[in-house]
Amino acid sequence: MTSHTEQSAVTVLGLGPMGRALAAAFLDAGLPTTVWNRTPGKDRELVERGATGASSAEEAVAASGLTVICVVNYDAVDAIVRAGAVAGALKGRTLVNLTADTPDRARDTATWAAEHGVGYLDGAIMTPTTTIGTPAGVFLHSGPEELYRRHRPMLDALGGTHTYLSEDIGRASAYDIALLDIFWTAMAGYAHALAVARAEGVTARELAPFAKGIGAILPPIFELSAEEVDSGRFSGEDNPITSAVSSMAHIVHTSEAHGIDASVMRAAEGLARRVIGRGHGADGFLRITELLNPR
Ligand SMILES: NC(=O)c1ccc[n+]([C@@H]2O[C@H](COP(=O)([O-])OP(=O)(O)OC[C@H]3O[C@@H](n4cnc5c(N)ncnc54)[C@H](OP(=O)(O)O)[C@@H]3O)[C@@H](O)[C@H]2O)c1
Repeated sequence: MTSHTEQSAVTVLGLGPMGRALAAAFLDAGLPTTVWNRTPGKDRELVERGATGASSAEEAVAASGLTVICVVNYDAVDAIVRAGAVAGALKGRTLVNLTADTPDRARDTATWAAEHGVGYLDGAIMTPTTTIGTPAGVFLHSGPEELYRRHRPMLDALGGTHTYLSEDIGRASAYDIALLDIFWTAMAGYAHALAVARAEGVTARELAPFAKGIGAILPPIFELSAEEVDSGRFSGEDNPITSAVSSMAHIVHTSEAHGIDASVMRAAEGLARRVIGRGHGADGFLRITELLNPR
């Protein structure tokens, strides 16, 4: 059982850029906050602001009813929380894991937590450190709903929007993976575009306002295409995939004429051509979803 004081206190394990931002937000909200990091010294600023610096993860966990962990990946989470004494200290308390990893790892951690009497919630942070403690932060949560509701008031101290997704502990991570898939493939496309633009004598500064315009085309597509993708019926009325491959081929050609690797675009173009080869050339580009994962 945790004491009344421990119930209103929070511990943060992991003081990388994100862990420090989380701890700072808890402190700003006036919550008694204990912090710990594998490499000592990263708690200095937080301790100056009123946090308690614990000398071990076990001591940190024992100080609060709620522990938030945010480290590089679940291997690091395991290294910290599955070590004998820490697991014992977590028994009867709640662990909220805001580390990014895969749905499988979240499920595996939940199994471990259940076997060790630890309340477990898994979450994902979808915005940068600068948003933590502000209205711009975006947090996704999954796991036992009752546990989430119980700790929600303390999680609110982190600011932003908190969305509870599902009892399925892997769901927050599944969203994280899908959303980061969008982000990193877009970033790979942007890096490639900058290289091609430079080869044509166009600077990143010159391209930026127009790049923003291209980026702004995407959000309405996310909304408008959702029904098509979920139903598996794709309208290519405004932009059939036959037209899309032609545009993609121009990019491949221009890149390779400059000796620039076009493998990312070649991969996308290859998928589009396979869809056409299967007789769906009149459909829109997102028909590729069916090729990648047939229902
Ligand atoms: N930074 C962002 O803007 C952002 C945004 C959204 C989500 N996230 C997610 O938040 C998590 C933390 O990110 P971060 O920005 O704070 O930096 P990070 O570099 O991903 O993580 C650094 C933290 O991980 C710890 N760590 C690494 N290996 C460890 C191990 N084997 N055992 C124990 N601790 C270990 C580090 O401890 P030491 O100091 O001892 O190395 C440090 O506390 C990540 O999963 C990241 O994907 C970050």
